[in-house]
Amino acid sequence: MTKKWWHNKVAYQIYPKSFYDSNGDGIGDIPGIISKLDYLQDLGVDIIWLSPCYQSPLADQGYDISDYYNIDPRFGTMADMDCLIAEAKKRNMYILMDLVVNHCSDEHEWFRKACEDPDGKYGNFFYLRDKKEGELPTNWRSYFGGSVWEDLPGTNKQYLHVFHKKQPDLNWENPELREEVYKNINWWLDKGLGGFRIDAIMNIKKALPFRSYEPDREDGLAGIHNMLQEARGIGEFLGEMRDRTFKKYDAFSVGEVFNEKPEEIPDFIGENGYFSSMFDFNEAICGQSPNGWYDASPVTPDDYKRACFEAQEKIGTIGFLSNIIENHDEPRGVSRYIPAGDCCNESKKMLAALNFLLRGLPFIYQGQELGMENTTFSSIEEVDDISTLDEYQVALNAGLTPEEALQSVAGHSRDNARTPMQWSDAANAGFTTGTPWLKVNPNYTSINAAAQMEDPDSVHSFYKQLIALRKNPAYSETIVYGTLEPVWKERHNLMAYYRRGEKTLLVIGNYQREEQKIVLSGMPKTVLLNNYPTLVMENGVVTMRGYQVLVLEM
Ligand code: GLC
Ligand code: CA
Repeated sequence: MTKKWWHNKVAYQIYPKSFYDSNGDGIGDIPGIISKLDYLQDLGVDIIWLSPCYQSPLADQGYDISDYYNIDPRFGTMADMDCLIAEAKKRNMYILMDLVVNHCSDEHEWFRKACEDPDGKYGNFFYLRDKKEGELPTNWRSYFGGSVWEDLPGTNKQYLHVFHKKQPDLNWENPELREEVYKNINWWLDKGLGGFRIDAIMNIKKALPFRSYEPDREDGLAGIHNMLQEARGIGEFLGEMRDRTFKKYDAFSVGEVFNEKPEEIPDFIGENGYFSSMFDFNEAICGQSPNGWYDASPVTPDDYKRACFEAQEKIGTIGFLSNIIENHDEPRGVSRYIPAGDCCNESKKMLAALNFLLRGLPFIYQGQELGMENTTFSSIEEVDDISTLDEYQVALNAGLTPEEALQSVAGHSRDNARTPMQWSDAANAGFTTGTPWLKVNPNYTSINAAAQMEDPDSVHSFYKQLIALRKNPAYSETIVYGTLEPVWKERHNLMAYYRRGEKTLLVIGNYQREEQKIVLSGMPKTVLLNNYPTLVMENGVVTMRGYQVLVLEM
């Protein structure tokens, strides 16, 4: 495998709106990010992915872009962005922007021109169909609920939006549109970006001609996945995009890839793949139900283990997955993957180590390094996220009471990850001097960066140790390039694996509050990490304490 500059890096996702507010308007911004670069450098981060901060009406919090060449004034200016890239560079850090090109905003100039002249150049930038009374072009359900078809204002046509109606899909079949996308990517790469995280990319290829599918809910609609499953030929678009953009710059690209076909993995992330990496969502989809969030099941430790190992096995050494326990679309990993009532420093550290040392690139989502947890909602009025509002409605339609509906969607809400970063125990968690755009999680008085940075036993300090271990020249080759081999795979509430390269490392997590005994096959040479002060071992038998995690050199 050809070594690439990003292989041994550690990445960190920033959700700009909630990271740090520099001017007291309650909204995080780019100057705020710049002021926290030293914090990230101290943690050991090399690559920073920014969720969108382009000009946007923020209908989907910036994933609806109205100008790809401008920064939204709420986040700062282009000069701020240039400064961020330069300041990152000084610290040997790379900035990734979010590439949102399955759709734009309905406030983008292209869309406005399409409304003015649907048969002209820009009409063909979108998927438009003639409007027929009482009949929709297809029965697809949008990801955020309702039909994917909406009237094109001022015309007798309708447009397709697989996400929100303020996010019209771009027509990738049109070479003129593709040229615009590549021009935009190269413009940003010329500015010195390290690369991109690529949003919702599996949606760019539609199965043509459009047709309806068997309805799968009472609303008579069929989930978008039905159509996507049938789409063929996405590789032609992705290969072209790679060749015209990323490849020329040796840029890093990580795709939000779902439902790829197993035989396509080498094309996606193998040598000369479409992307440098793609996220592993196998854990995130655990327990999901086709009926909606209200019907999802909790993820058990055994489910979590199975999902991680399945993903690892699928990829093997073809390329690198990007491993996450959470992102801006997910609840907090510690609240989801640790059994209810057991969320504590030990279990948070265990989850951190088990995830971080998998083969692949570790991505940390802001606040994950503090063990930030899900928040609480006392009423649906406190919810901002459009997806949660839709799922709440779905739950009500299924017959749940408003209280039950709120309860059932709360644990899945994307707002859990979007509450402001908890910097300190000062007012508003030190995030802003104004009124935060989204309520701060009330537990900031006990979970915050300032306190944890001073505490050698904090979750933050543990993440620092994990990062330092990945970068330690003695172990880096093994952790980055070594193979992963599950061990004691069938043991209940135990997740363990070998990483084998120049060295042999054994990672063991006791995924329960009860103790558990492990018989080691040999004596460990070194204990590289332990989330407890001591290791209880007699004649090769280790007594693992509740949620203890060990990283041993064998
Ligand atoms: C991706 C983003 C999500 C957004 C959606 C539409 O899944 O991560 O936040 O809502 O795409 O752009
Ligand atoms: Ca601000």
